[in-house]
Amino acid sequence: MTLDFLGGLERTHMCGQLRAEDAGRHVVVMGWVNRRRDHGNLIFLDVRDRSGITQVVLDREISGEAHAKAEAARPEFVVAVVGTVRRREAGMDNPNMATGEVEVVATRLLLLNDARTPPFSPAEGAIANEEVRLKYRYLDLRREEMQRNFLLRHKVAQEIRGYLSGEGFLEIETPFMTRSTPEGARDYLVPSRVHPGSFYALPQSPQIFKQILMISGFDRYFQVARCFRDEDLRADRQPEFTQIDLEMTFPKQEAIFRVAEGFLRAAFGTAGVTIPTPFPQMTYDEAIRRYGIDKPDMRLPAMVDLSETLTPELRITLKIEQELPVLGFTIPRVGSLSGTQRRALVDEIRGIFGDCGLDFLDTARLRTNAEFVPLAEAIGAKLNAEQIVFGGENFTNDDLAIVVTPKLGTPERWNFDSQWIPKRVGALRLELAKKYADRHKLFEKTGTAADFRFLWVTDFPMYEWNEEHSRWDAAHHPFTSPHEEDITSGRLVSDKGRVRALAYDVVLNGTELGSGSIRIHRKDVQQEIFRSLGMTNEEAQSRFGFFLDALEYGTPPHGGIALGLDRIVMILAGATSLREVIAFPKTAKAIDLMVEAPAPVSETQTRELSLRIAHRP
Ligand code: AMO
Repeated sequence: MTLDFLGGLERTHMCGQLRAEDAGRHVVVMGWVNRRRDHGNLIFLDVRDRSGITQVVLDREISGEAHAKAEAARPEFVVAVVGTVRRREAGMDNPNMATGEVEVVATRLLLLNDARTPPFSPAEGAIANEEVRLKYRYLDLRREEMQRNFLLRHKVAQEIRGYLSGEGFLEIETPFMTRSTPEGARDYLVPSRVHPGSFYALPQSPQIFKQILMISGFDRYFQVARCFRDEDLRADRQPEFTQIDLEMTFPKQEAIFRVAEGFLRAAFGTAGVTIPTPFPQMTYDEAIRRYGIDKPDMRLPAMVDLSETLTPELRITLKIEQELPVLGFTIPRVGSLSGTQRRALVDEIRGIFGDCGLDFLDTARLRTNAEFVPLAEAIGAKLNAEQIVFGGENFTNDDLAIVVTPKLGTPERWNFDSQWIPKRVGALRLELAKKYADRHKLFEKTGTAADFRFLWVTDFPMYEWNEEHSRWDAAHHPFTSPHEEDITSGRLVSDKGRVRALAYDVVLNGTELGSGSIRIHRKDVQQEIFRSLGMTNEEAQSRFGFFLDALEYGTPPHGGIALGLDRIVMILAGATSLREVIAFPKTAKAIDLMVEAPAPVSETQTRELSLRIAHRP
């Protein structure tokens, strides 16, 4: 088979562009063969480009040469078609295709390139084997769904850029080759050839640079910033990812919220979704108390505290600890469970709890077991009723209800961590929601703003106790300002566990979309925070000396936020993994299967870098 050259031929239309009103038009389209159907004298080629697919007819009677080439054509061949648009015959329209009313009758067909039989067809909707998809990413990206995701990503990024620019934010790039930025993950390091034994770190975020830009008087900065973190990967975590990063001078927390809400509204607007703003707000303490997690999924009802409704006598009868909280929750629309399903569920929950001292009652036991009638009544459940009232929230017989009870003689740990029970119950709530999500269409898309439930979580704790190293870590990062009264009251030194930070997260459907804070702008406070994180003055000076210096030259109050662009697009696209919205992502083991990175390097290279590899696998 001989391949053709373009010979100066120019494309006149994109494949997805042709409509009934184009009938009679002379066109040149180019693209890949999506499918080929051979009916003898007639061959149909579906030709695909980024914009869509158009059906091309090769009629032996019209052009024997073009027809012969179409006989040789195979899926993924690259072709150019010269022809005329024709209205399809009555009854032959394909309503599933945008171009379904027309076809192009070819007078010439150019085979611009051939293709080996691909390991999977880009014409297919879903491909099961993700490793193959990643290895042959160029084929995977040809798929309509992926093309759609990247068009969406492009539009979202453009909207956000436009919005922020309109609000007076300047886009400024910050370095990739820098020093360690403390965001809590391991750094990716780049060895220096010129300074043997010294390394640049790739930025975990532009945090310090954006603060320096505020000190530099830029007032409002943003960047679509690539960040690098060596951490355990999950569906919503990649080793390199992109943040919409911003910082502003003299902000109130609310001013930052308005900016983030503004660009999210613009971004979702491009997908035809109008999200209501401002977003609701909840403190961290309330989120833990009501949802058992710092990123509540607002599509599910909150947990209900039943502690008050249980009399001490009832607790004794039911062998429940007196002082500990009893929490309940419902999972909507689970429907009635068969005996087998219910027993399996009970076993499953027992498995999740293990012997941690928690027990539970589920809907069936609450309703039918005489022993629990008093409890059911106490929590306001009207037994045998269609519509029962559960801790003030209506729920129906279709909803699953679970009440978690701390058993008498509970472990001591509960005494010192009041968040332990809510967190366990919250985790169970999410686990069960996930379990029933698909079967009961819990999160079925309605195509409206109700599919996207945003929330601000505020007043995060300043510190987190690091059990392993017996020390306090910064819950956000060490540049986050504590509440002013926690500084003036001395709590910063005397009661670290209760210091609140001016830190906030924006959460969407239970996923953390972004984090930010008002920053420390005074050197004395910054030094105190470094000290309280166990850093000596010398260490602080050696790691962040340049920054402490900068704080001495007139640093204005400032604050900001960073949102994960990949996560925004993932949720908007209805995808469940960042790999669907990052063109060349890494596997869970941080490998790029297409280019096969990371890879060993030659000894010449390591020698130049003054490195010696101690262990090779
Ligand atoms: P933080 O570390 O919370 O804050 O990150 C902000 C947002 O970035 C996204 N993100 C990730 N996305 C994909 N893969 C990852 N591995 C990953 N890690 C984080 C999340 C997250 O909410 N400098 C601060 C922000 C600030 O204080 O202004 C920061 O980076 O969506």
